[in-house]
Amino acid sequence: MKGIILAGGRATRLRPLTKVITKQLLPVYNKPMIYYPIETLVGAGIKDILIIVAPEHAGNFMNMLGSGRDFGVKFSYEIQDKPRGLADAFIVGENFIGKDNVTLVLGDNIFDHDFSGHIKAFKGGAAVFAKEVHDPERFGVVDFDKNGKALSIEEKPAKPKSNYAVVGIYSYDNKVIKYAKNLKPSDRGEIEITDLNNIYLRNGELQVNLIDGIWEDAGTFDSLLRAGNIMEAKAKAGSKK
Ligand code: G1P
Repeated sequence: MKGIILAGGRATRLRPLTKVITKQLLPVYNKPMIYYPIETLVGAGIKDILIIVAPEHAGNFMNMLGSGRDFGVKFSYEIQDKPRGLADAFIVGENFIGKDNVTLVLGDNIFDHDFSGHIKAFKGGAAVFAKEVHDPERFGVVDFDKNGKALSIEEKPAKPKSNYAVVGIYSYDNKVIKYAKNLKPSDRGEIEITDLNNIYLRNGELQVNLIDGIWEDAGTFDSLLRAGNIMEAKAKAGSKK
């Protein structure tokens, strides 16, 4: 299993914070934001990690993160010329992925869940993760039948069918490259990860796992501040033990 962290994009929702600094290098309490998704992949046992960055920030990411030796893993870098959507990670990352399976984590997603069991158990198809939230319309939303089987996934629906948001970590088999290449851009002009997940769902190859614990998509002012406060509380609780 290889890992990809998608840290491209312009983060216009966080202007002026992101006018010269890229979102994923902003502080979340005592670390740059991207440390958290790195630790999520490393904690899950993934040692070969591609970091996809926007051209104007590539040098900053390499200065900050280097070879990966500090984390005990190997980092590679690719440039995403334009923010074409999350599914573009598998097109930009095609050479890196090779013939392997891949787990994508978004560079602004912060978890304290241990994914190592899921990664070890991954056999093929796709595995996504969902968490109950109060504001599902901000996210991909999955709804289930009474047996817990996923019925549909909708991207930022105005009228969500459930409160379960699809969080920003996804495992796929190698077919994901072919599927990503055939996607058509959505109304917001992006190739959507939700469309990829729906292909696997239609093929009966999508596994949806519920997670608990901390999850923040730190891409807005409020969620960035919340993530910082949560990580402060967590660090201080840990240091008192
Ligand atoms: C993206 C995905 C969405 C997912 C979310 C998780 O949203 O499109 O399905 O729930 O990440 O953070 P975006 O960050 O592009 O708004």
